[in-house]
Amino acid sequence: MNRLLTIEDLRVTYRSSRGEVPAVRGVSLALDAGRTLGIAGESGSGKSTIASAVLRLHPRSARIEGRVEVCGQDVNALSWGALRRMRWSDAAMVFQGAMHSLNPVLTIGDQVAEPVLVHRPTTTRGAAAHRVAELLEMVGLAAEHAHSYPHMLSGGQKQRVMIAMALACDPRLLVADEPTTALDVKVQAQIMRVLQNLAEELGLGLLLISHDLAVLSSVCDEVVVMHGGIVIEQGPGAELFANAQHPYTRALAGAFPTIGDPDSRYRPQGVGDDPASFEDPAAIREFLSRCAHDDGGCLVHRPEFARFALRDAPDCLRATELGILPADSETETAI
Ligand SMILES: Nc1ncnc2c1ncn2[C@@H]1O[C@H](COP(=O)(O)OP(=O)(O)O)[C@@H](O)[C@H]1O
Ligand SMILES: [Mg+2]
Repeated sequence: MNRLLTIEDLRVTYRSSRGEVPAVRGVSLALDAGRTLGIAGESGSGKSTIASAVLRLHPRSARIEGRVEVCGQDVNALSWGALRRMRWSDAAMVFQGAMHSLNPVLTIGDQVAEPVLVHRPTTTRGAAAHRVAELLEMVGLAAEHAHSYPHMLSGGQKQRVMIAMALACDPRLLVADEPTTALDVKVQAQIMRVLQNLAEELGLGLLLISHDLAVLSSVCDEVVVMHGGIVIEQGPGAELFANAQHPYTRALAGAFPTIGDPDSRYRPQGVGDDPASFEDPAAIREFLSRCAHDDGGCLVHRPEFARFALRDAPDCLRATELGILPADSETETAI
C-alpha cells in the first residue's frame, strides 16, 4: 500500500475558557510513501493541531471531526493497544523543540534504545546496542555518541538524536513539527537534508511542518499553506514558492530573509493578517475576497473558496469565467 496518510475534512475545535476555538476548519490532505508533504503557515494557523490529530495526541478538550487514516487505519477508531503500536511502528513524530526533552542523566544510547526495548520486548541488550549504532549512523552521527550525555552534544546533534529515536521502530510515516526551529540557519539546512535523505532512502512518507515557506518549498514535493485553520493554497514545493497565487502565500514567501540575498537593504515583509481575526466569518470572507479582486488564483486552487470570495464581491466574475461557479450559484453566510 502506497498511501500512508489520508486526512478528510478534518475539523478540530478546542473547548477553552475563551469558549470554542476552531483551530482546524475542514482540511483534507494525502501523503504517499516516498513523498514529502509540507505544511506552512505562521504561528496559530493550526499546523501542530493537524500533527497531533495524525497521532491522536490532542488534549481531551479537543473535539475532532472528519477522518484521519494512517496506513489504512482509522486513527480515531483504534483501541489503545492498536494506537500504541501505530504510534511507533506506523507513524512517529519529531516534536517542536523536542531536543530539549532528552533526559540529562541518561546516555544517548540508553534513550535511543528505549523505544526499541519497549516496543520489541524480545530484543536483547546486544541487539538493541547494535540498532542504536545503526540509527545514529542513519542520522549522520558517529556510533560512539551512544556513550555521550545530552549536554555533550550541540543543538543540531540533539535534534538528530530525536530523529534517530523516532525511526527506532521503522515507521513508514514521519511527522516532523518545526524540527529546525531554534537552530541556527546552517544547522537548519543540515537537519532538513537529513530528513529529506532519510525519506528518500527509507521510502518514508514525510509530513514536514514549518512556518518557513522558503525552506519547505525547497525540501517538499508538495506544500500546503495554512491560515486560520484552512488551506489557502496548495502546490508543488518549488512552483508554489516561485509562483504563489494567493496574496497570503506571497506575503509568507516574503516574510523571511534569503541567505546571501545580494540586496543588503532587503527587509522581511510581515504577513499582515492576524489569524485570530479568523474567528469572524466576515473576516474570512474579506480575506478570501482579496484574491477574487486580485487574479482569481485561490479560486483556481480552491474552488470552494469561491462562495465566500464572491459574497461581498458580486461583480467579480472571475469564478464564473473560470467555470468554477454557475452564474446563479447560491452564496453561503458562514464557513
Ligand atoms: N490546547 C489548546 N486549547 C485551546 N486552544 C488551543 C490549544 N492548542 C492550540 N490552540 C489554539 O489553536 C490554534 C492553532 O494552534 P496550533 O495548531 O498550535 O498552531 P500552529 O502550530 O500553526 O502554531 C491557535 O489559535 C491556538 O491558540
Ligand atoms: Mg505549532
